Amino acid sequence: MSEAVEIFEVGPRDGLQNEARTIPAAEKIALVDLLSRAGFRRIEVASFVSPKWVPQMADGAEVLAGLTRAPGVRYAALAPNLRGYQGAVAAGADEVAIFASASEGFSQANLNATIDESLARFVPVIEAARADGVLVRGYVSCVTVCPFDGAVPPGDVARVVAALRDFGCYEVSLGDTIGRGTPEAVDGMLGAVLDEMPAAQLAGHFHDTAGRALENVDVALARGLRVFDAAVGGLGGCPYAPGASGNVATEAVLAHLEAAGFETGLDAEIVAQAGRLAQSMRTG
Ligand code: HMG
Ligand code: MG
Repeated sequence: MSEAVEIFEVGPRDGLQNEARTIPAAEKIALVDLLSRAGFRRIEVASFVSPKWVPQMADGAEVLAGLTRAPGVRYAALAPNLRGYQGAVAAGADEVAIFASASEGFSQANLNATIDESLARFVPVIEAARADGVLVRGYVSCVTVCPFDGAVPPGDVARVVAALRDFGCYEVSLGDTIGRGTPEAVDGMLGAVLDEMPAAQLAGHFHDTAGRALENVDVALARGLRVFDAAVGGLGGCPYAPGASGNVATEAVLAHLEAAGFETGLDAEIVAQAGRLAQSMRTG
């Protein structure tokens, strides 16, 4: 039997958050409902962040309330602070994600906080989640290059991964936020990170700005990672990361993994349909 690799679908959140057009909740719900039939086990559908910072994600509660839950699928949401956590859980998110940066420049731009301040803000989130029995995923952004600070030392990434591990994050997703990481840089970064957290608890989150995301997936696979974030239609980018283009497309990762003999459990036809739907949402 072939080995399994999971694609964590982040399109409804990371894919859509940067779109200029205000996308109605009903369209987001239609996308999530289609994705729910594709075989994903986890779909990130919303962010409970300041609507002033990311207006596109202001309707997260509506999206979570309106989607049709599929058995075996966990619906995830970003929570930058306790208020976001409470909003996400009240809206029915099955798990939340906290998100930090390995670089100070991006931390300031994305969270208006230093790395250490952002980590301190996550403590009440972690405590509440533990009390509620809610799983928390962690993200580290700018794991290779920061749009403000340039190349990011692997040790800086490992330090933040260790902090998220100590918080009890069940998995940490490593974000090449602006898609500038080379396979060599990703490999070096993973070398440092794997001293802090095992491959089984790490995910790769590659944006495809420079067209190297699939190569970086291969580097991560060789290092033992078996979870990759991707967005249908290759939509996405972070509003606070100048130069960040789309997430690597789920369709591309799926085809790449299956060609390499991995089992994803996904229905490629439904994924392709969702990709077309996501693309059509971009242009309105
Ligand atoms: P701040 O301005 O420092 O904090 O923002 P604040 O506490 O002064 O709050 C500002 C305003 O937001 C206030 O409203 C708060 O009430 C409100 P006002 O008084 O001005 O009317 N507020 C909230 N509203 C709703 N939900 C909340 C919430 N918290 C405060 N949870 C803050 C700090 C963290 C809130 C802000 O910086 C923020 O929302 N940042 C989020 C940025 C973001 O979502 N970025 C994109 C996601 S990260 C990403 O894409 C990277 C990733 O994909 C991995 C990768 O690719 O690397 C994950
Ligand atoms: Mg991202």
